[in-house]
Amino acid sequence: MLETLQQPKPDKILSLSAEFARCAIPGKLNLGIGVFRDNAGNTPIFASIKDAEREKLKTEKTKVYVSPEGDPVFLDHILDLLLGSEIEKNRFGRVQSVGGAGALTLIARVLFDANPNATVYLPDPTWVNHVALFEMAGFKAAFYPYYNHQNASIRFEELIATVENAKSNDIFLVHGCCHNPTGTDLKKEQWRQLVSVFLSKGILPIVDIAYQGFGNGLEEDAWATRYIAKMMPEAAFAYSCSKNFGIYRDRVGLAAFLSKTEKEAKIAQAQLGVSARNLYSMPPNHGSALVRSVLADQGLKTAWAHELNEMRVKVQSLRKNLASALRLHIDAPTFDFLETQIGMFSLLPLSAVVIEVLRREKGFFLVGDGRINMAGLTHDVMDNFAKAIAQQVRNQTS
Ligand SMILES: Cc1ncc(COP(=O)(O)O)c(C=O)c1O
Repeated sequence: MLETLQQPKPDKILSLSAEFARCAIPGKLNLGIGVFRDNAGNTPIFASIKDAEREKLKTEKTKVYVSPEGDPVFLDHILDLLLGSEIEKNRFGRVQSVGGAGALTLIARVLFDANPNATVYLPDPTWVNHVALFEMAGFKAAFYPYYNHQNASIRFEELIATVENAKSNDIFLVHGCCHNPTGTDLKKEQWRQLVSVFLSKGILPIVDIAYQGFGNGLEEDAWATRYIAKMMPEAAFAYSCSKNFGIYRDRVGLAAFLSKTEKEAKIAQAQLGVSARNLYSMPPNHGSALVRSVLADQGLKTAWAHELNEMRVKVQSLRKNLASALRLHIDAPTFDFLETQIGMFSLLPLSAVVIEVLRREKGFFLVGDGRINMAGLTHDVMDNFAKAIAQQVRNQTS
């Protein structure tokens, strides 16, 4: 039977990491996969998470199952972090998920049960896994115009026109902050306009938020999510703790629905729980217990927020330095947009040939579409990296 299986197409980010591991060029740099790196190129464990982990080892008494819906105390802390204190939580149904990808999977399954005829619109471009996650649930996925590569701006009018042409009860996925891969979010006024068209068209938005705290700060990065939560009668939220708690491999997240009534919210939560039960039965507990401890203890929470802020500031300073190094070596403002974008990612407007030369000859591994993980850079390599790009840009134009 198994001989009928076909070799799947490689995932472009994971296969880049595999090629990186085989590369023998000294000073090689993996700018592909979206993880934070320190100056030595390592992805550190937050000290606050380590403290919580030590305490857990000392005090943990059982490893009995949690429930399919997960730990309610952890879930309340994450909802508070995401939504703040002003938004009433009684119209939210929420469960623990296996990272942000698991949250999207649960949400997709429940929404498909609710309306299998909906089209799910994703931004063009978006995180590579989005299409597969929604198509696996049975949905037809489509794209809405989002980013103009030529001038690093939002294609806002085309985006609005796409929403206006969608059917009532279609679904639009938006990135809550630090859009992956463009680093470019809507402005507040644009969010307001978008939400008003969602309301008039009867669209259900899914907010995918995987980088709270990496853009402009914990509160600022939650603005769009909170606005949507305040304004919309119904919405879905997929939250990832992978990056902002540095617990990538522990697989921690939250899936939530905002429903019209408290009663509907309870049903939506139960449906998320059933999906979890059918897919993998129970969520892992280790990572969520650490997040719960950090958020429940004011001292640990302050320490965590401080560590996260240092990471955010570092990424912004890498952005600034790369923009100025490129300005210097190219003698043009071509890459100045890097400085104003936010979060881990940006798209470098480089040809596929240049990206390949950077990888094969210099050991700089970018994703094929030009996505760069800014957090993968270090100040030490900045000048070499900018010089290599400048040389290729000159070759390309001469
Ligand atoms: C926009 C976006 N959503 C969701 C995820 C998934 O996060 P997790 O690793 O927690 O599954 C990612 C991860 O890179 C992402 O960039």
